Amino acid sequence: MCGIVGYLGHRQAVPIVVAGLKRLEYRGYDSVGIAMIGDGKVKAIKTAGKVAEIEALVAADRGAASVCIGHTRWATHGEPSDVNAHPHLDCHNHIAVIHNGIIENYSVLKKKLVDSGHFFRSSTDTEVLAHLIEELSRWSKGLEEAVRQALQQVQGTYGVVVISDREPDTLIAARHGSPLVIGHGEGEYYIASDASAIAEHTRRVSYLDDGELAVITRQGMRAKTLGDVETTKSIQELAFDLARIERGGYDHFMLKEIYEQPETIRDAMRGRLLAADGEVKLGGLEHVRDRLVGARRIILVGCGTSWHAALVGEYMIEHIAKSPVEVEYASEFRYRSPVLSANDVVFLISQSGETADTLAAMREAKSKGAAALGIVNVVGSTIARESEGGVYIHAGPEIGVASTKAFTSQLTVLALIALYLARARGISSEDCRVLAQELQSLPTKVSYLLQVSGRVKELASEFKDARNFLYLGRGANYPVALEGALKLKEVSYIHAEGYPAAEMKHGPIALIDENMPVVFLAPKDALYDKVVNNIHEVRARRGRIIAVANEDDREIEQIAEFVLRVPRTYGFFGPIINVIPLQLLAYYIAIARGVDVDQPRNLAKSVTVE
Ligand code: G6P
Repeated sequence: MCGIVGYLGHRQAVPIVVAGLKRLEYRGYDSVGIAMIGDGKVKAIKTAGKVAEIEALVAADRGAASVCIGHTRWATHGEPSDVNAHPHLDCHNHIAVIHNGIIENYSVLKKKLVDSGHFFRSSTDTEVLAHLIEELSRWSKGLEEAVRQALQQVQGTYGVVVISDREPDTLIAARHGSPLVIGHGEGEYYIASDASAIAEHTRRVSYLDDGELAVITRQGMRAKTLGDVETTKSIQELAFDLARIERGGYDHFMLKEIYEQPETIRDAMRGRLLAADGEVKLGGLEHVRDRLVGARRIILVGCGTSWHAALVGEYMIEHIAKSPVEVEYASEFRYRSPVLSANDVVFLISQSGETADTLAAMREAKSKGAAALGIVNVVGSTIARESEGGVYIHAGPEIGVASTKAFTSQLTVLALIALYLARARGISSEDCRVLAQELQSLPTKVSYLLQVSGRVKELASEFKDARNFLYLGRGANYPVALEGALKLKEVSYIHAEGYPAAEMKHGPIALIDENMPVVFLAPKDALYDKVVNNIHEVRARRGRIIAVANEDDREIEQIAEFVLRVPRTYGFFGPIINVIPLQLLAYYIAIARGVDVDQPRNLAKSVTVE
């Protein structure tokens, strides 16, 4: 959340930073700003609104500056406004700071600074950093020292970049809890909260670790701890397909990512699923295989859509591998003093690999001796680096704020883990082969489904003015109901609730009347008859029924007003297919309501604050 970009080198810095901000806009988009050093002075330009606003402001005067930092904001402290936009400056406009995270003790620090004469312009937590560095610069040897001392006084989280016109050829960056990646060019350096902002310029990157500070000049980069001890940073090669961060002819990233799913599901299985042999190879789990197989319990932890994936994973792993599974919200898990031991295995599920609560849950699990493993999309992200192993989902960059392809890839990886465990726990290769072949057929089925899903648009125009929606499912499709409701809320702003279909009788049934659309997940699996009974209960109360059902199901047409057809598959893999019409429904309803689906209000792609 919040995007950070910086450049120091020999080229015009402003266009590089603005282009980087455009790539990062999915991380936060309520206000935006840049600061450059030109003619020996710090010059900041900032505004409420999206990156396009700043593009217009700098169009006339891009300046010759070869040092620039930029920020796109997702507000925590202080409403989105010109003055609250980053960068924040000290009293005399010598120092500029961009920051991602939260300074928790900012009010105490601010009071002290105000008492000693500092003048604040904004109501953000970040501005204290600029003034604190200004204050400490009076007594310290230079910018690096002042930033170090300032950060030692700060409680909270930060990814921060600082420039000063007193040291115009230096960028100082530091990290505690919010990611920063440094790109190495020829006599030039890039810095960003996310590699997608700099991948077009360089593939050679180093990642800052928590508690590290980097001093970057044209001559090189030095990394140190906040205690001033030098650290060694290796340079890694970034594998990045730039085409994957372009819209490629689609109106929105969300739609493009929905349509990428045949490919991304295939990529999640590639080289891992040996369907003909009934085997699954997961290299990132091999060294913990015995712990995993013998685990007292497996705990799946995540937030948002990743938590929904965890819920489906629980059904898959318990049914297929017969291993005991629990699912936890990362934010609850970390503060609940969970009882953990070396006999427990915790999987952290996260698209970004940077979600603050999921990261903290990983550290909690590690500190208590449990094995902490990642199911992560972003290569090189903090969870990927700090976990003891795991499985990448390989979905490629997901830019749409509402997660779509990452969800189905997470489910695919969870299905692989279920098969891997089942095999290790003794199911025959023949039984595994049947399931593996079914899994292997999913990309083709999803591809077909996407070709025949024109009906969803019709449905979207019929229901675009609904005020509420209910999503109901049973078994492994209950989390799909939750995910369908979340997608609709996120992008269309219609209130929606997901529920286990049988639980409807214990409350939500009171809401049903002729204005309530109810989406039922009704594939022909073991629970089909039960779901049909629930459909009748809603029908009897004149609710409007939309059913997601298999193509060969004729019975459903008699009881549902609308039917969205999905190919049939093995019940526990069904969620990978059944969620797709719900993603499309949310997308087309949002479009019909005129919402910017890639940047819906108040949301951020990567939630790096608690
Ligand atoms: C945010 C995003 C969601 C995502 C959740 C968890 O809320 O908007 O789409 O599911 O964070 O993110 P993660 O990167 O950990 O999967």
